[in-house]
Amino acid sequence: MWSDKSVLITGATGRLGSEFARQLAQEGAKLFLVARNESRLQHLTRLVQGRGAAWAEFLSLDLSEMNAADDLFAETRLRGLAIDVLIQCASMAQWGDFLDEPEQDAELSLIQNIMTTTRLTRLYAQEMVDRSAEGIILLTSGVFAFQPVPGVAELAACKAYIQSLGEALAEEFRESGVRLTVLAPGGLPGAMGGGSNGRTQNTAPEVVRAALQGIERGLSVVIPGRATRAGVLATRLVPKRLVGPMMRKRLKSSLTRH
Ligand SMILES: NC(=O)c1ccc[n+]([C@@H]2O[C@H](COP(=O)([O-])OP(=O)(O)OC[C@H]3O[C@@H](n4cnc5c(N)ncnc54)[C@H](OP(=O)(O)O)[C@@H]3O)[C@@H](O)[C@H]2O)c1
Repeated sequence: MWSDKSVLITGATGRLGSEFARQLAQEGAKLFLVARNESRLQHLTRLVQGRGAAWAEFLSLDLSEMNAADDLFAETRLRGLAIDVLIQCASMAQWGDFLDEPEQDAELSLIQNIMTTTRLTRLYAQEMVDRSAEGIILLTSGVFAFQPVPGVAELAACKAYIQSLGEALAEEFRESGVRLTVLAPGGLPGAMGGGSNGRTQNTAPEVVRAALQGIERGLSVVIPGRATRAGVLATRLVPKRLVGPMMRKRLKSSLTRH
């Protein structure tokens, strides 16, 4: 399914992005890798070239700039790349109480998480439809998408936006040939805000495997791991007025471990 597909990965050097690159390289995909740090991109590009990628190139680009999505789209056109698969893993996380966050950082995070994610989805979905391609788009939310999370309020709100956008677009695109999946992972072992029980947390390879299998099965939402799915369900069953304090307590205990 992935062999010779042209795959664009944003946040390609991150924990999940780089794992997508590794697993898709082994499947013989062509990879276009995007993040900001050029030396990490160079290193990853060499690595995936040695792991079976049919082709690999990278672009260093700041996706928190207002025109970043259009610049990226123009760059893929310039390089003659018809993107079959768009995997969006870039994310700028703001941790801390709302009034303590540097406002400029928070705004850049909003541009990257909301504006750029939405615009990239629009540009590439339209292009896939125009060339009648069987395109695939993956958006990454996270378990924070399913309830308000004091202490990381804006990030959780961004994730809720991505989750809602993705689920709605998956339905809208159903007849168009473009498949959209939203990946909502729990915290990876050792990640900020992750749970305390490493045994029930999923590793990056497990999360990526679940995502790729979910795409292959045509799922619109993938929440990897039984414990993570149970956690999401539990927060939906708890009365709304209790969710905020409960999440604040959980996040605080997780942050004190870092
Ligand atoms: N890891 C977890 O536990 C977890 C849990 C739930 C959800 N998620 C979600 O899963 C996705 C991937 O997570 P991750 O753990 O792989 O993230 P990560 O390790 O923090 O990596 C983030 C990636 O995004 C890139 N990036 C950040 N800001 C950027 C910008 N302004 N322009 C371009 N690229 C930028 C980073 O590279 P540069 O810094 O070089 O740009 C890096 O490649 C994110 O949406 C995250 O919220 C992760």
